[in-house]
Amino acid sequence: MSQTLRRGPVSGTALEPAGKRKPFLVDFYSTAVGKKYVMAITGIIGIGFIVGHMIGNLKMYIGTVDEGGTEVYDIDVYGEYLREILVPILPRTYFLWGLRFVLIGAVVLHVHAAYTLTLLNRRARPVKYQGARDYQVANFASRTMRWTGIIVLLFLFWHLADLTWGWFNPDFVRGEVYRNVDASLSRIPVAILYVVANIALGIHLFHGTWSLFQSMGWNNPRFNRWRRGLATGLAAVVVVGNVSFPIAVQAGIVEFDESVTSVHDLEEGSE
Ligand code: HEM
Repeated sequence: MSQTLRRGPVSGTALEPAGKRKPFLVDFYSTAVGKKYVMAITGIIGIGFIVGHMIGNLKMYIGTVDEGGTEVYDIDVYGEYLREILVPILPRTYFLWGLRFVLIGAVVLHVHAAYTLTLLNRRARPVKYQGARDYQVANFASRTMRWTGIIVLLFLFWHLADLTWGWFNPDFVRGEVYRNVDASLSRIPVAILYVVANIALGIHLFHGTWSLFQSMGWNNPRFNRWRRGLATGLAAVVVVGNVSFPIAVQAGIVEFDESVTSVHDLEEGSE
């Protein structure tokens, strides 16, 4: 008895029984182009977060502000504000958790697409290029994407464990961002880790921003100068901004003062 076989809607390669046709998005994701799209879109989400996070952290430099006659750290008020977005339409932290889920999903997909794309490329070329010829078209940033990506992932785990969960930070107080950043980055090895990880992030962002245009098909040669400028500018802004924090803490420009009211006390007082 003969069975009807069909090709996938996008990949057009694998022949499968007609009844088991894969949904369009799943089939698209199984192709190299589909994975590159996913890498580009999740990369854009990551860039949005990293730039927003860096700009938000610049509030460290504002220091304290007057909240109804009480001096509090501006960044602590900002941290509270993030938890209060869309209250009372939604309960406290719901919107923030929504953003976190989008971000977690983006990171998981970005890593999965990178890994499976590597496997796909290996399968297509089981024998490596011989000699250094292939490196002539690839620059340092593109050749190191895997390593800079792994450094950023490891940093991210350490960063959350240190500044969000407080596991590695003996002076951690939940919600007191200014205090926690000072306590963490005043340790020299931690400051060095931040500098190294953020340089790796900058290299990753430079090549990622450049190549996402290629992946999305926005690669008209007329825009190449503009593309290079955007990739360089974005990487430079993120590296300078983020590396400034460990330097500022080490230089004493950012220094926690116990006499400043905690944002938690402020809330209790206003209730
Ligand atoms: C020197 C640079 C950085 C500083 C000073 C910094 C500071 C912080 C602080 C204080 C928090 C906790 C905020 C809170 O609990 O309210 C935090 C959370 C976080 N940071 Fe960073 N960060 C830096 C760089 C980065 C980088 C490069 C990444 C990503 C690669 C990153 C990803 C995150 C994430 C995902 C969270 C959790 C956000 C959340 O829970 O809503 N940070 N950061």
